[in-house]
Amino acid sequence: MNILVTGGAGFIGRWVVKKLLDDGHSVIALDNLSNGRLENIEEFTGKNFKFIKGDIRNEMDLDEVFKEKYDIIYHLGASINVQDSIDDPRTTFFNDTVGTFNILERAKTQMFGKNGSMQGDKWCLDSNEDVYPCKLVFMSTCMVYDLANDNGIDENHPIKPVSPYGGSKIAAENMVLSYYNAYKLPTVVIRPFNTYGPFQKTGGEGGVVAIFIKNSLYSKNINIYGSGEQTRDLLYVKDCARFVVMTGYSDKVNGEVINAGTGRDVTINELANIITKDRVEIIHVKHIHPQSEIMKLKCDYSKAKNIMGWEPEFTLEEGIKETEKWIKKNLK
Ligand SMILES: NC(=O)c1ccc[n+]([C@@H]2O[C@H](COP(=O)([O-])OP(=O)(O)OC[C@H]3O[C@@H](n4cnc5c(N)ncnc54)[C@H](O)[C@@H]3O)[C@@H](O)[C@H]2O)c1
Repeated sequence: MNILVTGGAGFIGRWVVKKLLDDGHSVIALDNLSNGRLENIEEFTGKNFKFIKGDIRNEMDLDEVFKEKYDIIYHLGASINVQDSIDDPRTTFFNDTVGTFNILERAKTQMFGKNGSMQGDKWCLDSNEDVYPCKLVFMSTCMVYDLANDNGIDENHPIKPVSPYGGSKIAAENMVLSYYNAYKLPTVVIRPFNTYGPFQKTGGEGGVVAIFIKNSLYSKNINIYGSGEQTRDLLYVKDCARFVVMTGYSDKVNGEVINAGTGRDVTINELANIITKDRVEIIHVKHIHPQSEIMKLKCDYSKAKNIMGWEPEFTLEEGIKETEKWIKKNLK
């Protein structure tokens, strides 16, 4: 198959590209490199893989990208940082919501043409137009949910936009589902829980696991925002990418919202202890956005398991071990 991955030079995107190439597909990655890096994808060059530097907000860039036809579009390109979304909601909204709308429109045009129109609930296509079916996977996030109870969060759990990041993703999710319901465009909304692993950035803009590991290796103290009693269900990136890719292959998930996580949550205090192993000091500092913190995130992934047979394969300890090995090797 010919497959497009937006955000393909980013942390999770590069793992999705890798899995797709390993599965024997041709892949085009689109990324504006605002947070992605060419180093993330350099190993793929020449193997049925092409990178296009471009922006999902820019129609001319999209004209270029959609000269080709895609069987599946994995849409991961987005602004991902909660604090950035609070400081600059416009950028997050235009990347995450408007950018998603632009990708939806391109997918709809590829599948039904520019001149196609809905007659009642049926498509009437222009036979002179060259149309080609596709499927869109929209990468949302667990950060759209209200906090969990002990049973964990399934897809019927209430949502609550506590940051412009969550709000922009919820808006985009609704558009993605509306294109399934109104236009019969095959789409799925996926909500992976917090993801970590090799290639995640280790600076302030990175993930909590990567930052804690780097600080432990380089003897820098760890800062925890607030009490540290907030919990996360941490998904290893290889499990995440396998999940993302599977949702593109399965027709049974079309029109659905699907979670992926491990079903185990840890407090940030516990996580700090697991990672630092007393190598550095742990300091609690004032939270930068207490109003946008979700105090308990724990995934119920039964739906992914029941529909697709997906389950996580890595324990937190195994994932952290692999991540630490990678950071040690790559941050010399
Ligand atoms: N990291 C997590 O814990 C996590 C969990 C669940 C969902 N997600 C979602 O997964 C996706 C990937 O996240 P990630 O952690 O790999 O972050 P990332 O920042 O590494 O990846 C996002 C990529 O999108 C690119 N991008 C941003 N705006 C763009 C634009 N306008 N045009 C083209 N490319 C653009 C960035 O350069 C970056 O490479 C995002 O949609 C994010 O919301 C992430």
